[in-house]
Amino acid sequence: MFPHEQVIIRRGRESGLPIIVAVHSTTRGMAIGGCRMKAYPGWQDGLADALRLSAAMTDKCALAGLPHGGGKTVIVLPPAGDGGRQLAPHQPGDDLREAALHDAGSVIEDLGGIYATGPDVGTGPADMVTIGERTTHVFCRPVEHGGSGDSSPATALGTIAALRAVCAHRFGSPDLSRRSFAVLGLGRVGAHVARLLAEAGAKIKVADIDEAKRAAAPEGSVWINPDECLRETVDVLIPAALGGLLGPETVPALHCRAIAGPANNQLVSPDTAATLHERGILWAPDAVVSAGGIIHATAVELRHRSEQNALAEVETIGDTLTAILREADARRISPYEASITRSIAARERRVSRR
Ligand code: PHE
Repeated sequence: MFPHEQVIIRRGRESGLPIIVAVHSTTRGMAIGGCRMKAYPGWQDGLADALRLSAAMTDKCALAGLPHGGGKTVIVLPPAGDGGRQLAPHQPGDDLREAALHDAGSVIEDLGGIYATGPDVGTGPADMVTIGERTTHVFCRPVEHGGSGDSSPATALGTIAALRAVCAHRFGSPDLSRRSFAVLGLGRVGAHVARLLAEAGAKIKVADIDEAKRAAAPEGSVWINPDECLRETVDVLIPAALGGLLGPETVPALHCRAIAGPANNQLVSPDTAATLHERGILWAPDAVVSAGGIIHATAVELRHRSEQNALAEVETIGDTLTAILREADARRISPYEASITRSIAARERRVSRR
């Protein structure tokens, strides 16, 4: 069976670039998921990413108890010509960027409100204003434009709540100052997480494929290279960049005791969760850890919560994760399996608590 409700692939009228919008599920309500603007070897790779990422958004919304489903937009930029290692976002010229965002907005508008977008890898709040010139179904415009603003501080806060839960479960105390961390990726979310950890007095190492991100490394952190980061002997590894980093090639080399980070789709395949579990490495499902952005944006923009109450909702990520980790222990299954069981049950219940 085709698992997605609807997928639109269109050559953008204004940009000529492939624009892909995947709506995975609206069973629990309107689908939400960010707009990724990134270079891919070909549009098919962008499509594959959109399909995976939108399905993950369905789990993310269900596990966060939100009355929403998953979707994703991918704007496929041409390969940056660096031998296929498309990790650094290729920056298109301003005109092309604006045209591509307008194209994405037009496709989203044509969907008539079953899906709304937000920022993701390669886009930010200012880009949401541009998308908003073609559709109203967009989250996270800057506050002065009527939106809830940058979602990355909330995503980072949710990650910290998750890290405290992981430390309590794995090491017996939520106290971050007693633990060591390696943060892989100092983008908008990763840099916030690193700073919050530094403020909490944790021991941290940071890495990014982009040397220029050294400037975002908080005081007291140690800069290492990304390959080293994956092999680092630390309590917790924090994937905060692109997905697909945990697989048969990387897992054998890991020297961490737990993994919890905001990067979407960290596992190459579900089998990786079993391998991590067998190796005794606690992996916190990214669909739970990374929900802070959507919780905050929907709390402020749809449920009209105050900033303080929205952030309190984000903090519940810690309790959700604790419940999943306990359930996994009790049933002797991996946290991944426990999270999927929960997500499916939530989708069957359809109606949310909130
Ligand atoms: N990039 C966000 C995520 O993966 C997407 C998003 C944030 C969508 C905020 C809407 C609002 O969760």
